[in-house]
Amino acid sequence: MEIIIQADAQHAVRLVARLLENRVRNKDSTVLGLATGRTMEQVYEQLAGCGASFKQCCSFNLDEYVGLSPDDPNSYRHYMQEHLFTKIDIDPANTHVPDGNASDLKQAAEDYERLIVQAGGIDVQLLGIGEAGHIGFNEPLSSLVSRTRDKCLTPTTRAQNAPMFGGDINRVPTRALTMGVGTILKARELILLATGSAKASIVAKAIEGPITSMVSASAIQLHPNCKVVVDEAAAQHLHGREYYDFVFANEPEWAAYRD
Ligand code: F6R
Repeated sequence: MEIIIQADAQHAVRLVARLLENRVRNKDSTVLGLATGRTMEQVYEQLAGCGASFKQCCSFNLDEYVGLSPDDPNSYRHYMQEHLFTKIDIDPANTHVPDGNASDLKQAAEDYERLIVQAGGIDVQLLGIGEAGHIGFNEPLSSLVSRTRDKCLTPTTRAQNAPMFGGDINRVPTRALTMGVGTILKARELILLATGSAKASIVAKAIEGPITSMVSASAIQLHPNCKVVVDEAAAQHLHGREYYDFVFANEPEWAAYRD
């Protein structure tokens, strides 16, 4: 795992957008794993403006609320249409978001796993982290080998996402269909982005704490090709930053990304 600490959220976002742009430009048919949430909005704005073609790309989103239709303004399908898909040249048929509105969620979950395999697996998976320690909507105690399934959301997560529902936690769905931790770990590369002081303590637990299903994001420690990009605010509780900064300043692979 490599930890890249940037001065502020703007620089962290820019670096992640550049990494993704690089992956898209280097392989015609990149299979992108995508996340939603406030942290990613600026990433998608930059990616949409980067000029790369996504014509041959295909995408799989991490999760979707159960019970929201794709055109519901709070659905993650709607979020993706608004923030990315309508702004790039990706074929809409190649964009996938779990079907949280399916009558048979178990079947929808199995179908989603199959589609990922048929696409050749995910090349690069973008991740945020929730205050409850989740990646995707893998709430505490999610099995570290879990696959796509529906999951009950924690009060912490519902409170975190309430602002998107007019500040009313009761309007936030109680369940979501999410890729599992095991599904995420199958991606060939992981890039986790976290910004802001509200994420500082959970970021430190996920990166430097023990691997535990109580913090599903800690499972990224098991991945052989994982990058974590944080701003100073989210990095404030990290103990090993002297080493992380040294790696970023010296490793040749990062030369193009140092400002
Ligand atoms: C959403 C997702 C979540 C978010 C996380 C952070 O698709 O996978 O894990 O990445 O909840 O959300 P924000 O960025 O809103 O803090």
